Amino acid sequence: MGTCSVSLAESLGLRLCDRARTALSGAAPSAIGQGLETFELVTLKSGVHSLRSLKNLETFHPVTGPSAEAQTLHVDQQKLLVRAAAVAANAAPFTIWDVGLGAGANALTAVKALAKTRSPVVIHSFDRTLAPLEFALRHAARLNYPLGFEEALRALMEHRSVQLTPFLSWHVQLGDFTERLKTLDLPPPHAILYDPYSARNNPEMWTLDHFETLFLKLDPSRPCLLTNYTRSTVVRVSLLLAGFFVGYGSGTGEKGETTIASNDLRMLDRPLDQRWLERVRASCTSAPLREIDLQHPGENRVISAPDFERLRALSQFSIVDSGTYRD
Ligand SMILES: C[S@@+](CC[C@H](N)C(=O)[O-])C[C@H]1O[C@@H](n2cnc3c(N)ncnc32)[C@H](O)[C@@H]1O
Repeated sequence: MGTCSVSLAESLGLRLCDRARTALSGAAPSAIGQGLETFELVTLKSGVHSLRSLKNLETFHPVTGPSAEAQTLHVDQQKLLVRAAAVAANAAPFTIWDVGLGAGANALTAVKALAKTRSPVVIHSFDRTLAPLEFALRHAARLNYPLGFEEALRALMEHRSVQLTPFLSWHVQLGDFTERLKTLDLPPPHAILYDPYSARNNPEMWTLDHFETLFLKLDPSRPCLLTNYTRSTVVRVSLLLAGFFVGYGSGTGEKGETTIASNDLRMLDRPLDQRWLERVRASCTSAPLREIDLQHPGENRVISAPDFERLRALSQFSIVDSGTYRD
């Protein structure tokens, strides 16, 4: 590890526990995921570098770049530092699910934000492959955001787990998230950084059935926020029908708005309202995506009358439009 790397991580107060350090000496990066998916480095309009999957031709964090997008979309909107600090010392750790670990930009941006936390925080990153993370590690100098964390990333790949500070640990759960979720036995999250590929390339991660399974993993007494880059009506409809409250999320760069969801309406600053519901009724492509629809990819459909009625009857719309929301 270079001098510069050590000083950045250590200036953030991040030190690997001794056990991880010892285990790391001479450890080669994991071979998991290699050969399945390949990537190239791309330069974004801003001059920042990111990754592009050569399998599905999608660029990671294409608008403002890895660190800026992760900060605006996930870290700031999730209010990670404030919410983690609010968890009582004797309570369960503040738990983050980083869904779609990819090249680690979201998780590392969260790690940097939480470096000085004195509240226990656990990050669980989910992915079916470590290939993008290995790529990011090989190109750390160009990508910039992994610098200073090379040792932590190697430990994570090698052991699937790394203790970054006495308060902050990071774990990887490998496998298909939609399948793993069905039998997953982990503490319910306070924050979900939801970042799969787009529905076109990654439809199984966007179905109503999958969001229902995800919603059932939440603890009703533990407010959880889910942040995501899309503003798609179909995705918002699917999240709502799965049980989430859904709101307008912050814009990132040229993208005017994104989506934020929660199991607690009070967590949302700008919940979707009747005006948005009218847009759903008028849209030709607002039907939720169901697992059964995956057999007919690319087919856009109008929402059915029963689905629209279920949507309209959701408490979110009566509360928000009664004018009493957060009175
Ligand atoms: C756009 S990338 C994520 C970028 C990442 N959050 C970052 O900050 O670099 C999408 C990731 O989702 C993962 N993914 C897609 N479908 C998945 C599934 N069904 N189960 C687990 N991971 C999945 C992909 O392997 C890929 O690494």
